[in-house]
Amino acid sequence: MPLVTTTEMFKKAYEGGYAIGAFNVNNMEIVQGITEAAKEVNAPLILQVSAGARRYANHTYLMKLVEAAVEETGLPICLHLDHGDSFELCKACIDGGFTSVMIDGSHLPFEENIKLTKQVVDYAHERGVVVEGELGRLAGIEDDVNVSEEDAAFTKPDEVEEFVSRTGVDSLAIAIGTSHGAFKFKGEAKLRFDILEEIARRLPGFPIVLHGASSVIPELVDKINKYGGSMPGAKGVPEDMLRKAAKSAVCKINIDSDLRLAMTATIREYFAQNPSHFDPRQYLGPARQAIKDLVKHKIVHVLGCDGKA
Ligand code: G3H
Ligand code: 13P
Ligand code: ZN
Repeated sequence: MPLVTTTEMFKKAYEGGYAIGAFNVNNMEIVQGITEAAKEVNAPLILQVSAGARRYANHTYLMKLVEAAVEETGLPICLHLDHGDSFELCKACIDGGFTSVMIDGSHLPFEENIKLTKQVVDYAHERGVVVEGELGRLAGIEDDVNVSEEDAAFTKPDEVEEFVSRTGVDSLAIAIGTSHGAFKFKGEAKLRFDILEEIARRLPGFPIVLHGASSVIPELVDKINKYGGSMPGAKGVPEDMLRKAAKSAVCKINIDSDLRLAMTATIREYFAQNPSHFDPRQYLGPARQAIKDLVKHKIVHVLGCDGKA
């Protein structure tokens, strides 16, 4: 089976009341851990590549790794550009074999976001590629995403119909209180499900995307802190909230930080217990297994897309 778009996945997820996991990939062990988990529970998958990941690993390497995963698993897998910030980057990914791109114009004024997003949609649709747009701004810091809390803004429900109809996007990322990275909430975790519900009411049947959806699993943070790390105050989206989102119009849930935490916690523990080891296979093997265990947990106990491939 070749790489697929998200069209069929999202239609089934919307109707079935579950969500597809969109996991960020940066190297072979991450691709293998995620895809082996999905194969064992027969789940459809979105593997996503950020601009930073593309710079780190190189477009062709990532493409070939994902093609290898498709061949090995036989699963429906979509290869998606995460947070594309320009027409040129989206075009390079479309021309280079991705089946889905995100154009993130959320930092732009409304009209400029529409203009840029529509330019990408026109180019992508002519080539059978789907597009995710974004309205509203998430806080948080990653390589290429850096938004302060003051600059973050919830999605305005009264803008979504116009944005979707004028751009022709296939899915819409919204801001309801999640943020990128491992420090999402200072106090109690709070998501604006009322905004999500209003958006879903205005866009019946339309797939919504939730970014910044790592749970920042406390056991992983504890392990990092136990073995020499320092992440005081790390906090993510509680899994109950994600389960609730997955049952709603949210069809794609983005997870990256939890994968990073799982790898890092495992490698820190490994070196604490085996200080003289230096063969990368010895610590990357358990790190890959930790990713696999984590992704299986997300698919089966949070997203509900097991058995849906
Ligand atoms: O939302 C962004 C993703 O977690 C990717 O982060 O830009 O550091 O690769 P990155
Ligand atoms: P997390 O940092 O919560 O994993 O979010 C990832 C994300 O939104 C990728 O686009
Ligand atoms: Zn994101």
